[in-house]
Amino acid sequence: MNKIKAAITAVGSYVPEDVLTNKMLEQMVDTNDEWITSRTGIKQRHILKDPNKGTSYMGIKAAEELLQKKNIDPKTIDLIIFATATPDMPVASTGAYVATQLGATNAFAYDIQSACSGFLYAMSTASVYIESNRYKKILVIGADKMSSIINYKDRATCIIFGDGAGAVLFEPNEEGFGVQDEIMRVDGSGREYLKIKAGGSMLPASAETVNNNFHYVEQDGRTVFKKAVSNMSAISQQLLDKNQLSADQVDWLIPHQANKRIINATAKQLGLAEEKVLINIEKYGNTTSATLPLVLADFEQKFKKGDKIIFTSFGAGFTWGASYLTWGYNA
Ligand code: UT7
Repeated sequence: MNKIKAAITAVGSYVPEDVLTNKMLEQMVDTNDEWITSRTGIKQRHILKDPNKGTSYMGIKAAEELLQKKNIDPKTIDLIIFATATPDMPVASTGAYVATQLGATNAFAYDIQSACSGFLYAMSTASVYIESNRYKKILVIGADKMSSIINYKDRATCIIFGDGAGAVLFEPNEEGFGVQDEIMRVDGSGREYLKIKAGGSMLPASAETVNNNFHYVEQDGRTVFKKAVSNMSAISQQLLDKNQLSADQVDWLIPHQANKRIINATAKQLGLAEEKVLINIEKYGNTTSATLPLVLADFEQKFKKGDKIIFTSFGAGFTWGASYLTWGYNA
């Protein structure tokens, strides 16, 4: 008998209605559509404008879409892992609130904060729970309201990020489809290059931190760019070698969507044909924990049972990794 694998059996997504285009950004900072498009591939981002709504709102919407699509009773969910860098509140689990709003009364829930790698790391956790046979239905949600931590006067960051959410369901698969292998890494010295300085235990919020704009994302874009390309391509190649997979045998690459040039450079290093590389950054920008499930939701119709998919991500920390999954169903 095959060992039980953790397969993705359903996907859902949500992005807010309001759109922030490159043209609109031209009115806000010294930038232009041509620069943003050619340097990042981004044309627009979705923004959750309602000041009374937090990240949970989008996570709930994405999960509701998934549950409705597959007619799943929320009471059958065992666990919700909520990946986010922008929880509703610094304390009080956002996942717990999401579970209760969904009516997942037999589930427990928690948050994972690993910036842009949050969803990939959450997939890792979910798959091991399923393989161990401890839980049977695990919702992994990636959601971020990046607009809540972006300085719309800083052109180095405000052109990149957007808001959104995606959700996937992991269930046991006895045919052998699902998560096959992964390699995950971190380098904590990288936090110097991509961070929010204040609001944590090292530098709690004060009038001074607010006045100094220390509650917004700051990054050294060039360093992050180089590290993202070298680490995502190296770890993906390592994972391919470990599983004796050639680039030709891979059906799809699902990379974190931070910059189209990062994605193209990574794919080139791996020798992957362009049509296998899934990109939707033009519509959403970088939605941090939501990029991978938003790609899954947008391209779900393309996937066939058995397709070999490589996921890879890189983010603040630094955090990065790659995961190899075979698709479990025909849409
Ligand atoms: O998920 C992880 C999170 N973050 C990332 O992965 C981001 C990684 N980094 C990047 O995507 C890129 O570094 C950026 C998109 C942030 C910047 O692109 P770049 O090609 O690295 O630009 P740069 O910082 O090297 O700047 C090139 C030029 C500079 O002008 P000079 O010095 O050549 O005259 C900048 O001042 O472009 C200028 N510039 C801009 N111009 C128009 C920088 N930002 C902008 C802008 N609009 N928004």
